[in-house]
Amino acid sequence: MTADPRTRRQVLQWLAASPVLGLASGLADAAEGGASATELRAAAEALDVFDMQAAAEKIVPPAHWGYLQSGVDGETTLRANSTAYSKWQLVPRRFVDVSRIDMSTTLFGMQVASPVMICPIGGLRAIGPADGDIGVARAAKAKNQVHAVSTQMSDKLEDIAEARGAPLWYQLYTTNRIEATRQLVQRAQRAGCAVVAVTVDLPAGRNTVTATRLRRTDVRPCGACHQVGPSGNPQGGMATKPMFEGLDTQGLGLTSPSLNWDFIRRLKDMTTMKVVIKGIEAEEDAALAVENGADGIIVSNHGGRALESGRGTIESLPDVVRGAAGRIPVMIDGGVRRGTDVFKALALGASAVGIGRPYAWGLAAFGQAGVERVLDILNLELRLAMVGCGARSISEIGPRSLKTA
Ligand SMILES: Cc1cc2nc3c(=O)[nH]c(=O)nc-3n(C[C@H](O)[C@H](O)[C@H](O)COP(=O)(O)O)c2cc1C
Repeated sequence: MTADPRTRRQVLQWLAASPVLGLASGLADAAEGGASATELRAAAEALDVFDMQAAAEKIVPPAHWGYLQSGVDGETTLRANSTAYSKWQLVPRRFVDVSRIDMSTTLFGMQVASPVMICPIGGLRAIGPADGDIGVARAAKAKNQVHAVSTQMSDKLEDIAEARGAPLWYQLYTTNRIEATRQLVQRAQRAGCAVVAVTVDLPAGRNTVTATRLRRTDVRPCGACHQVGPSGNPQGGMATKPMFEGLDTQGLGLTSPSLNWDFIRRLKDMTTMKVVIKGIEAEEDAALAVENGADGIIVSNHGGRALESGRGTIESLPDVVRGAAGRIPVMIDGGVRRGTDVFKALALGASAVGIGRPYAWGLAAFGQAGVERVLDILNLELRLAMVGCGARSISEIGPRSLKTA
């Protein structure tokens, strides 16, 4: 369904005054047709991920755009994720033979083309209805990148796994019922997933101000596609999500505020998949993750969608790396928009660097081809950063390549 153009203009005017716009200056002008970024005819024409953002914004209706772009409250954490990267600058090196650059890396025994990782996003068919999770999987296969798929996926896990053609990472919400959790985990294992990434940064709700505001500007009735609550807003609708097929969803919640570190031990007992904790930001929690048996950590604040007034994840990364003390790999996501961001995270100790919204923009604008282009752009930019800094392989990227402002 396409949004009414008048509504669209109102939304853009609102966006122009909103912190959301901090993600890409000039976005409203671009979406109104004032910049070449909006004129993309093919994915290959996108020069950076912001071109893809502008192209996506023209297509995705307001309620779904709000869902994708927003953070929580005043969105300071959301902005911090991106802006914090500018605290570090690259140190170029000269007369290093950079004629051969190897960006490949190995994560939990799987060799991938680069450390750029596709992070889980729920409800992808609301953003890219044509290709959805399957299109993302095909892009991840074409480019040989890690693909982590959300519990809130739009397509069937088994179909996504087949499209990816190599082990997926399965993102788990803890749920509030251990038997349901076990069923989700066992299904993921049967589907051949190699890693279960359990998300721990959303224990008990959030205030999605921008998403709610944008939904109110959308002329389409939510009830046509979603279960809606008394206010007319969409509600969980777990029973209709492919991953919950066959599960008793009565009273089932995605998360539980009462969980403690025992959960990680129980999860380890449930599966032979590697257990990665997604959403660690404190040094102490990194140490506790190792002590409680985690196989890896993703430094993440859910793309600024959980706790407000937090740090950018790149600012938390050095603390978490210290807490993990080289015992397990530490990965990161949040606000990564350039290959230089990827480089900086690697230099500060990350083993892989995840993206969320950028690949969703590609998916919205051009389906699978858009996701592939976003991966190509970030990998090209990473390659150029490696060349400039004289790092010929991922293992040659280190803190000596960075200075703080
Ligand atoms: C629309 C949207 C939906 C998301 N859904 C999930 C999810 O279902 N599970 C999860 O662990 N993280 C989810 N995330 C967080 C991403 O996995 C990732 O941490 C975040 O998007 C990275 O930040 P970035 O979007 O700035 O790249 C979601 C993020 C967005 C933007």
